[in-house]
Amino acid sequence: MSKLASVLVALCCLALALPSVAQNNLALTPPMGWNSWNHFAEHIDDKTVRSQADAMVASGLKDAGYVYINIDDTWEGQRDANGFIQPNEKFPDMKALADYVHSKGLKLGIYSSPAGKTCAGYEGSRGHEEQDAQTYAKWGIDYLKYDWCQPSGGLEEMKAAYTKMHEALKKTGHPIVLSLCEYGWNKVWEWGGPVGGNLWRTTGDITDQYRAMAEIGFNQNGLEKFAGPGHWNDPDMLEVGNGGMNEDEYRTHMSLWAILAAPLIAGNDLTKMTPYTVEMLTNREVIAVDQDPLGKQGFRVAQEGPFEVWMKPMADGSKVVGLFNRQRTVEQMSVDFSQIGIRGEANVRNLWLKKDVGTFQDKFSAYVPSHGVVLVRITAK
Ligand code: GLA
Repeated sequence: MSKLASVLVALCCLALALPSVAQNNLALTPPMGWNSWNHFAEHIDDKTVRSQADAMVASGLKDAGYVYINIDDTWEGQRDANGFIQPNEKFPDMKALADYVHSKGLKLGIYSSPAGKTCAGYEGSRGHEEQDAQTYAKWGIDYLKYDWCQPSGGLEEMKAAYTKMHEALKKTGHPIVLSLCEYGWNKVWEWGGPVGGNLWRTTGDITDQYRAMAEIGFNQNGLEKFAGPGHWNDPDMLEVGNGGMNEDEYRTHMSLWAILAAPLIAGNDLTKMTPYTVEMLTNREVIAVDQDPLGKQGFRVAQEGPFEVWMKPMADGSKVVGLFNRQRTVEQMSVDFSQIGIRGEANVRNLWLKKDVGTFQDKFSAYVPSHGVVLVRITAK
């Protein structure tokens, strides 16, 4: 073999060995930002979006890594005579809004559907995919949530619809994160990446209750092999700060989403946050779990009834462990180091308390509050 040929073969093998990254090279760690739907639903307008962008900066969320300001459903107006989509009266000038959001060092996201109508009954993109992609690029949009909004859908039909929008976005030459939303139907995790998705919803809609959040979060086990840099499972947006769960429950929500390497898209009113909501959304050590460059989604390593132990492998070789208590009373829980591939002694750091707890031999135990979590990072000695 000539020297050139062997170099080419080596390069090819190296490329095959690298983890697959979605074609657009975006979302190399799970996207972080805010979305209007969970708190505002249809009561969203230009002024509110601007105030959320202001608050994302002022509250410290931006410094903690949140960047996308995403407008969900109900911004859409009519199409003009040439078929180009216009925003409705709530959004007088989308380009000016994007400029404003960008001036804060943030990015703007928008929402549409491959159907004729969106889930809230507004104008969808069917038959206008290229025009819509061009319009988003012209406005300066950085992220698109593309929501199925049809009562059912076959696998091939879905793949074709999402591929069409992916191709249309690509053609604009403007980098736009593509977020698939079709509620986990047809095992989207198996094909969401190849059709161009940077993330895909794995479930129906979250609500602001422990039961709903826990059912979604703890059911993600098994999907870990489908996530990685550029292509993430999305168990839906955060409810932290919306008021329907207590502090321990929200801490469980945030911890589980971090272990899952889930997108961290806040869904509360950023202009009205209690100190504990800010602390919960901005804890650097918890965010570092979610954003770890290795991009491994965590999974369950042990379960006894309502007691679940989850683990996420980190780039530095440490293991993040969540001891989750899903029952109504406090319980002592443990992780055996053998369950997480560590032998002998290890250092343990509590990530919510931001404190080293000490050095432990073979296992670590802690009291876990009802519906709560103890989240630790364990580093072999
Ligand atoms: C669906 C989605 C939600 C939200 C609404 C908007 O229910 O799953 O996240 O986007 O539509 O109508």
